[in-house]
Amino acid sequence: MMKVDIINLSYTYHGRNGKPIKALDGVSFSVDEKEFVAIVGPSGCGKTTLLNILAGLLIPDEGEVNFKGIVKNNRPLTSVVFQDLALFPWRSVEKNISYGLEEIEPDKNRVKEITHKMIDIVGLKGFEKMYPSQLSGGMKQRVAIARALSLNPMLLLMDEPLSSLDAHTRSIMEIELSSLHEKTSPTVLYITHNIPEAVFLADRVIVFTPRPARVLREIDIKLPRPRTKDIKTDQRYVGYLEQIWSLILPDKGIWK
Ligand SMILES: Nc1ncnc2c1ncn2[C@@H]1O[C@H](COP(=O)(O)OP(=O)(O)OP(=O)(O)O)[C@@H](O)[C@H]1O
Ligand SMILES: [Mg+2]
Repeated sequence: MMKVDIINLSYTYHGRNGKPIKALDGVSFSVDEKEFVAIVGPSGCGKTTLLNILAGLLIPDEGEVNFKGIVKNNRPLTSVVFQDLALFPWRSVEKNISYGLEEIEPDKNRVKEITHKMIDIVGLKGFEKMYPSQLSGGMKQRVAIARALSLNPMLLLMDEPLSSLDAHTRSIMEIELSSLHEKTSPTVLYITHNIPEAVFLADRVIVFTPRPARVLREIDIKLPRPRTKDIKTDQRYVGYLEQIWSLILPDKGIWK
């Protein structure tokens, strides 16, 4: 089990000219065990900064992150899909996906088996031996997702993981991600600009303010699971979209 408490996080960058850029301003919320939480907020508000703090790559100026559950060296087994993907150009698709898994799984056959299952799920069969430079943006994104999911993490952090997919592949991946979450139940923090996607996937959507990020609103998404494509025409789904859009439309003066 894995629960995350994010308490009063603040973070300021110091640019080259010494001008401080405050990215996070007292951000607090929790992600419950097995919960899927989506974060939406305008470009540049501080979402990736938050993800980097959760991944242990940045130390907050104020506040703390508490992980509750099975943790090793104070951290749970975490997978991250970074916004810039962070694939290894010198490793093939297959070897990019198995990176990480090789570290924790001593059985080589098991590594192969899991890797191939993931390749299948993300639709990269036939591309196993190719290198990132030979792939489209959407294919690279699928490699990064497969790598993250193959670890069967307790905590999954994803930053715009579907942003460069075409609408068709994106819808398939949304349903795929949702059913994987229902099957393996990691605790998920999912960052996206795409409000329909956030509502489709999440148990709760957290709306951030423009920079510096603060929590503007938390919205429980009480839609049934499993989430299927039929949800997208459900009146309740449409109601959630309207609710979130009404928070961020310029005439409300919040997202300018
Ligand atoms: N290394 C850095 N040095 C200085 N400023 C930075 C650095 N990284 C980010 N920033 C600034 O901090 C703010 C928040 O950046 P962040 O990447 O967290 O935004 P974001 O919400 O993820 O945006 P997007 O949706 O466009 O990915 C931005 O104004 C950005 O310019
Ligand atoms: Mg970002």
